Amino acid sequence: MKKIVIAVDGYSSCGKSTMAKELAKQIGYIYIDSGAMYRAVTLYCLQHHLFSGNTLDLDALRKVLNDIKITFVKNPETGRSETFLNGKNVEKEIRTMTVSNKVSIVAAAGFVREEMVRQQQAMGSEKGIVMDGRDIGTVVFPHAELKIFVTASPEIRAQRRLEELIAKGENVNFEEVLHNLTTRDRIDSTRKDGPLKQAGDAVVLDNSEMTIQEQNRKLKELYENRVNEGLARSL
Ligand code: CDP
Repeated sequence: MKKIVIAVDGYSSCGKSTMAKELAKQIGYIYIDSGAMYRAVTLYCLQHHLFSGNTLDLDALRKVLNDIKITFVKNPETGRSETFLNGKNVEKEIRTMTVSNKVSIVAAAGFVREEMVRQQQAMGSEKGIVMDGRDIGTVVFPHAELKIFVTASPEIRAQRRLEELIAKGENVNFEEVLHNLTTRDRIDSTRKDGPLKQAGDAVVLDNSEMTIQEQNRKLKELYENRVNEGLARSL
């Protein structure tokens, strides 16, 4: 069967990764969490003291960008892909609020985006990939055969993320999480390079009222329809 590229974009914490990961597993595609790459660069910036409050030393980051190596390695026990930064597993660390509070600042830097987009395009060169993020259907894979734009109300997204963080042992409250999501959405949507926006040919999926199973089913259905349409066209 001919493989396609599937781009899943949308707002912070709207369940993109959950559904993208599940679809990739079901159809035997590679799954890439592009947000994890921006999160890993942010962790590097924090570890190397490139932030002073919310000000990022862009010149210093530009100089060291080539030293930042991000890879994804499958954990044989869970079967899940985990993020490595310069050979170290940082999967847990990159999901903390400390990183979430700074990541949109790093992701707004044009030269960072240029490098991440280059690496993401290389990962998808053979197709058979599901990638989630903010600019996947607009910048990374503008010719993706299937583009999904996921939305849900900010309060529902914040509640879901809060439960996730608490389950991981983080000491956070609803207001803090909601503030983080809305701030990131604002920075991500208004930046000059690769802003978060719906591609003209994307299918909108509002999952505010959907369970995880329902959203997974919906995405699978969209994939099957698209593949069948493609097959019909090439007959
Ligand atoms: O999990 P959540 O949806 O909250 O965020 P994420 O997908 O891990 O992305 C974290 C941040 O990385 C976003 O808020 C964006 O600032 C940035 N990002 C981006 O700029 N472009 C992407 N393709 C993916 C993420």
